[in-house]
Amino acid sequence: MCGIVGYIGYEQAGPFLLDGLEKLEYRGYDSAGVCLNDGKELVVKKAKGKLKVLKELTDNGRKLDGTVGIGHTRWATHGEPSDVNAHPHLSESGRFAVVHNGIIENYQQLKDYLTSKGVVFRSMTDTEVIVQLIEYYYKGNLIDAVIKMLEKLEGSYALGVISRENPDEIIAVRKESPLIIGLGENENFIASDVTAILSKTRKIYRLENNEIAVLNRENVKIINTDKEEIRKDTETVNWDINAAEKGGYEHFMFKEIMEQPKAIRDTISPRIKNGRVVLDDISLTAEQLKRFTKINIIACGSAYHVGVVAKYIFEKMLRIPVETDLASEFRYRDPIINDKVLTIVISQSGETADTKEAMKEAQRRGSHVISVVNVVGSAIAVESDEVIYTWAGPEISVATTKAYSTQLAVIYLMALYFGDMLGTIVADEYKALVGELEQLPERIENILQHKEKIQYLASKYFNSRDIFFIGRNIDYALSLEGSLKLKEISYIHSEAYAAGELKHGTISLIESGTPVIAIATHEELIGKIVSNIEEVKTRGAQVMCIACDNHPEMENIGQTIYIPKVCDMLLPSLTVIPLQLFAYYVASLKGCDIDKPRNLAKSVTVE
Ligand code: AGP
Repeated sequence: MCGIVGYIGYEQAGPFLLDGLEKLEYRGYDSAGVCLNDGKELVVKKAKGKLKVLKELTDNGRKLDGTVGIGHTRWATHGEPSDVNAHPHLSESGRFAVVHNGIIENYQQLKDYLTSKGVVFRSMTDTEVIVQLIEYYYKGNLIDAVIKMLEKLEGSYALGVISRENPDEIIAVRKESPLIIGLGENENFIASDVTAILSKTRKIYRLENNEIAVLNRENVKIINTDKEEIRKDTETVNWDINAAEKGGYEHFMFKEIMEQPKAIRDTISPRIKNGRVVLDDISLTAEQLKRFTKINIIACGSAYHVGVVAKYIFEKMLRIPVETDLASEFRYRDPIINDKVLTIVISQSGETADTKEAMKEAQRRGSHVISVVNVVGSAIAVESDEVIYTWAGPEISVATTKAYSTQLAVIYLMALYFGDMLGTIVADEYKALVGELEQLPERIENILQHKEKIQYLASKYFNSRDIFFIGRNIDYALSLEGSLKLKEISYIHSEAYAAGELKHGTISLIESGTPVIAIATHEELIGKIVSNIEEVKTRGAQVMCIACDNHPEMENIGQTIYIPKVCDMLLPSLTVIPLQLFAYYVASLKGCDIDKPRNLAKSVTVE
C-alpha cells in the first residue's frame, strides 16, 4: 500500500505535498518523492528511505517551485526500494508524471510492447508502464491519452497524473485502491485518505472505481471513461485534525491504546437504545437468519484473531456452526460456500487485498456477506452486501489496537442482536449482557490506569529471544493476538499455543528461563490452564499470567496481571489491553520504530 497526495492552487505546492506525505507515511515508507510543474518543466525530487530523507532534500518542500504537484510515499511491490524505483515516474520525454497505489498485473506485457516500440524504461516498477503509455497515446489531449491508457491496464490503481503541457490540471483515477478529492477555495487536492488534507479542507469526493477526476484551481469535474460527467455528492469529514495526529503521545500506538474506551463507546452507544441492541446497519430478518446453516468468518492478521474470538462467542450464544478462515487460504481451498452460509469479513482498512478477494469469492458462491470495517467508503465496505462500521476513527499505527477492540465490540453487538432474533438468549441474560457491555469502556479505563505493573514486567522480558503465549478456549484466541502484537513491533520471536496442545511437541522448546505468558481468564478451565502452567514451570519456564481478580491465588503461580471479572463474552476486550501494553513497552524498551515496524504497512493492498 502506498500514499498519494496532490495539490493544484495558487500557493507553492511543495510544503503541502511534504506535509501531506507525512500524514500518509504509515501507508508505506521505503521511499518517497514529489513532482512539480515549475511553469516550464516537470521537476522530480525523490529518494529511498523514510520521508525525512526527502524532507531534508527539499527543505520540507520549500526548495520546490510550482503551484501544481503530486507526491508519493511507497511500500514496494515491484522493484526494490531505491531512488529510481521511487515515485513519481516520468515518461521518457519528461512531459508526463504519475504516482500510483496498487498493482498493474499485466505490466510485463505492456512493458515488452512499449520496449518493442523503442520506449526506454528507467525503473523496475509496474507503475512506469502507466506514464509511458500516456506518452505513447498522447496526441494533444491528456484526458484522451489517460483513457486510452486505462483501457490497457489490468489490476488495481489510484493514480495522480500531471503533464508539462497541461500546467493547470491534475488528473486522478481510481480502480480498487482508495483515492479522495479534496475541495478547497481556489485550490483542490488528491489524497489516499483524508488525514493528508484535513488541514486544508473537510469537503471531499470519494472516487469510485473507474471514475476520473479532472482538477483545476477553481473546480473539479468527475467523468467516466466515456467522458460523461458524473454528479457526485460532496462529503464533509468530521474527524478532528488531532484524531489524525499524535495528540501529545510519543507514538500513535500508545495514543490509540488509550483511545480504546472512547472508540468502543462510540461504536456501541449509537447501537444500544433503551437496553436493546439496534443494528440498523444490517437488514437481515429473523427468517433470513434462520436459513443460515453456518457462519464463515474471513480476515487477516489481528482481524482474523477477532474472528477466532467470534467463533467461540457465536457458537456458544447462537448455536450455529462457525468456521474461521485466513483470507489468503480461503480463496484457494475450493470452500464449501453457498447461499445458506453467512459470511462475515473483518477488516480495519477495508482495502486488504486478500480479504477483499476472499469476500468476492464467497459472494460468487452465493454467500451473503456482512463486513465489519473501520474506514468509511473503503472497497470492502462498499462491495460487501452489508457493512457494520467500527467507529474507531483513523488508526495510524501499523499495529492495530483500537480497531481490533471495536471489532470485538461489533461482534458482541451481533451476538446479542442475532441471539435475540433467533431466541437463543433468554431475556435476563440478554439484559445483563447489554448492561455489562455498556460498562465495558470504564472497565478498560480502569486497566489503563494501572499499567505500571505491565511496564515493570515488560522490563523483565524485553531482552528475551523467544516468548510463548498460551491459553485455552477464548484465551487461546487472545494468545494469538498477544503473540502477533509482540512480534510485529518488538521483533521478538513468539508463538501462541492452545495450552492443552503444548505437550504434543512444542513443550520440547521450553527450557530454563523461557518466558511463557499464560492467559487464564476462562472460569470453566482455570484448573486445566493451571495444570498447563505447572507443566511448563517444571521445565524451567518463567511464567507471567493474565487472570481475573476473583482468583488471587494466581499470584502464587506466576507474576499476574489482574483484570476485572466480567461475563465470559466480554473478557477478550479486557484481556487484550495488558497484551497490547506489554508489547508496546517491550518494543519501546528495545527502541523499535513502533508505529512503522520494518517490512510492514498499515494495509496490505497486494496479495
Ligand atoms: C495487526 O496489528 C497487523 N497490522 C495486521 O495483522 C492487520 O491486522 C492485517 O493486515 C489486516 O488488516 P485489515 O484489518 O486492515 O484488513
